[in-house]
Amino acid sequence: MSEAFQVRADSPDGPAMTEPLETWMPRILQRTEQALDRYLPPKDMEPTVLHDGMRYATLGGGKRLRALLCHAAGELVDAEEAVLDGAASAVEMIHAYSLVHDDLPAMDNDLLRRGQPTVHVRYGEAMAILVGDGLQAQAFAAISELPASPSQKVALLKELASASSSLGMVGGQAIDLASVGHVLTRDQLEQMHRLKTGALLRASIFMGAHCGPAPVPASLHAALDDYQRAVGLAFQVVDDILDVTSDAATLGKTPGKDAQDNKPTYVALLGLDASRALAEELGKRARAALAPLGPRAGHLHDLADMVVHRIR
Ligand code: IPE
Ligand code: IPE
Ligand code: MG
Ligand code: MG
Ligand code: MG
Repeated sequence: MSEAFQVRADSPDGPAMTEPLETWMPRILQRTEQALDRYLPPKDMEPTVLHDGMRYATLGGGKRLRALLCHAAGELVDAEEAVLDGAASAVEMIHAYSLVHDDLPAMDNDLLRRGQPTVHVRYGEAMAILVGDGLQAQAFAAISELPASPSQKVALLKELASASSSLGMVGGQAIDLASVGHVLTRDQLEQMHRLKTGALLRASIFMGAHCGPAPVPASLHAALDDYQRAVGLAFQVVDDILDVTSDAATLGKTPGKDAQDNKPTYVALLGLDASRALAEELGKRARAALAPLGPRAGHLHDLADMVVHRIR
């Protein structure tokens, strides 16, 4: 155990080790960047434009929330960081692909992403479609190459495939597009958010837990499930708020797009103040879900705070 870890003896399950957030976070971010670099094809490999585009879409940007959630959940089950790196890279690749396609002219028609021109602006629309396709397949290839047991890999593949599917992220995106200009009920809006954004956040957390050496115990599964429900929804509520309140320089994407495109959002349905109150409430719910896990869940606790109070 490195000196960077501090022993917290107040855990109900005995001593628990959690690395201080100030060192854990930059360390995981750096590991994630390096792992993504390794799992993506090199840019001088043919077809070079496609590989350059896949790397442009994925590397050097993004908050890496999904990777951080994966590592934070993996800590709870003593998962090896090398395995978590692969799982985290896979979910970040699916996320990056979803953003490339989300930004396409046929979808949200966005020009700015992570402070840079979107992939279709830079590489053309046809190549952007292929960049997304390539990233999606690469995510599953990364899992297949993990230094993990066959049963761990199957659990990871299943989790990521269902979260990316028509019953997960892609389904949510379809509902989003079909809902333009319609007034959704609160339940319909919540369901759309749970699919388009919540599903991949949920997968990040459960994939982290599947990286452990043993099946996920029922009590941990239940706590993580409560946590992901609250955090997943909070994340997209805040995304909707920031679209109204933030600016391009801070956000790295064009603000004001949701209202302009007549998208159903929490801000449109509830207004800003009630949306902010809802995000706070969901943050509290997420932290409360972690209570049975004790101080070992410190990083998940911190990440719930970040989701609610983020500015980009
Ligand atoms: C943006 O996700 C798209 C949504 C799912 C709302 P993030 O805000 O996590 O994007 P990056 O990865 O930090 O750029
Ligand atoms: C995107 O939601 C969700 C996915 C990419 C799956 P948004 O359309 O609200 O995301 P931003 O605001 O463009 O990042
Ligand atoms: Mg969208
Ligand atoms: Mg969008
Ligand atoms: Mg948005």
